[in-house]
Amino acid sequence: MSGHSTYVPKSAVAKWFESRLPLVGLVHSSFVAYPTPRNLNYFWTFGAILSFMLVAQIVTGIVLVMHYTPHATLAFSSIEHIMRDVNYGWLLRYLHANGASMFFIAVYIHIFRGLYYGSYKAPREILWILGVIIFLLMMATAFMGYVLPWGQMSFWGATVITNLFSALPIVGEPIVTWLWGGYSVDNPTLNRFFSLHYLLPFMIVGVVALHIWALHVVGQNNPAGLDVKNLKKDTVPFTPYATIKDFFAVVCFFVFFAWFVFYIPNYLGHADNYIEANPAVTPAHIVPEWYFLPFYAILRAIPDKLAGVIAMFAAIAVLAFLPWLDTSRVRSATYRPLYKQLFWVFVLCCIGLGYLGAKPPEGGYVIASRVLTAYYFLHFIVILPILGLIEKPRAMPGSIAEDVLRKHGGAPVGLASGASAEPNSKG
Ligand code: HEM
Repeated sequence: MSGHSTYVPKSAVAKWFESRLPLVGLVHSSFVAYPTPRNLNYFWTFGAILSFMLVAQIVTGIVLVMHYTPHATLAFSSIEHIMRDVNYGWLLRYLHANGASMFFIAVYIHIFRGLYYGSYKAPREILWILGVIIFLLMMATAFMGYVLPWGQMSFWGATVITNLFSALPIVGEPIVTWLWGGYSVDNPTLNRFFSLHYLLPFMIVGVVALHIWALHVVGQNNPAGLDVKNLKKDTVPFTPYATIKDFFAVVCFFVFFAWFVFYIPNYLGHADNYIEANPAVTPAHIVPEWYFLPFYAILRAIPDKLAGVIAMFAAIAVLAFLPWLDTSRVRSATYRPLYKQLFWVFVLCCIGLGYLGAKPPEGGYVIASRVLTAYYFLHFIVILPILGLIEKPRAMPGSIAEDVLRKHGGAPVGLASGASAEPNSKG
């Protein structure tokens, strides 16, 4: 989609450089001349917001590490030292801790945008699967990062989650001992989590590069879910149109982020993590961070430990098969009347699971978790494959340009000319 670079170096030095390493041409074809569908809405700014958050997490993390001590006897007090003694240490820490939550808010919006507009469908399957890999890496990074302050929730969260591997027959116990580096969560565990928490974000950067590369090969989807047919009529250059819009969205998101950091910095955290880790005292309720709650609810919904662990991982793995589970050839929910409603039912199901993940696993909560867990999987494995076969899509505009004109007036809508309920040519 980005095609060959149209960049022409002007100075002699630029020409010399470009003929040896066409870096400026690459940036130009990817972020300046790159043709962007002209009907994109603000949901398409979340990729830029995520890129910004990734950089923010890495930068604040690197500075935090300069003052943090990854040792079981010193970690907790080194965090207090950062909060009280280091210049602007409180700001760095609150930016990093709340930044993780902001990152997940953005990624959930980004994923649900993909689900609504069918961005995972051909030819974007690889792009989507790379996204699922990023999501898994993000979860691993966040989980290990939460252990580093070595508070009660850090310690007990790590204990509960690593213990899940013990459900595996025969190899389970040895795997847990290997993960811990001993016979309980202790200093070796903290050390390796620290090492991996530092490493994984750079792996995320690598997969994000592939993600954006794949995006630029196939081009962006759009709210109408139509393919670009006429470059001139259906697209606008990335710069200035998308750059300005992305920049504006990043600033707005940053204001939202700053509101958490400056007004309610501990709202998304857990009070117990301000108590130093104590292997002799188990907290009344061990709950993970909010962004893990739907998966935690699925884990606990199943009475058998091993089956629960499998269901929890399957809940993410199923996303990777989505391009083939959804049999509809129409991408956007805008033109899929039934899918549109079921999409919102699915959103409610996920929110419900999140709510239940924070509740104690007893009585009605367990039953509700089981119902919603069953629905979660039904949505992917039964509803989507059947829906694509029985649903009658609404009439679609003939092109992206027509979609814009239809919404914003101007020229005739032209639904009669060339518009149809026909699926996308590639889809
Ligand atoms: C660090 C995390 C991520 C970053 C930095 C990132 C970055 C981006 C960027 C810059 C775009 C293009 C702009 C846009 O469409 O918003 C994009 C598109 C896309 N991303 Fe991501 N992404 C991330 C995570 C994910 C995840 C977890 C998924 C799915 C599981 C995903 C799926 C997609 C899809 C399907 C598109 C194409 C959307 C379309 O054109 O309609 N991404 N991503």
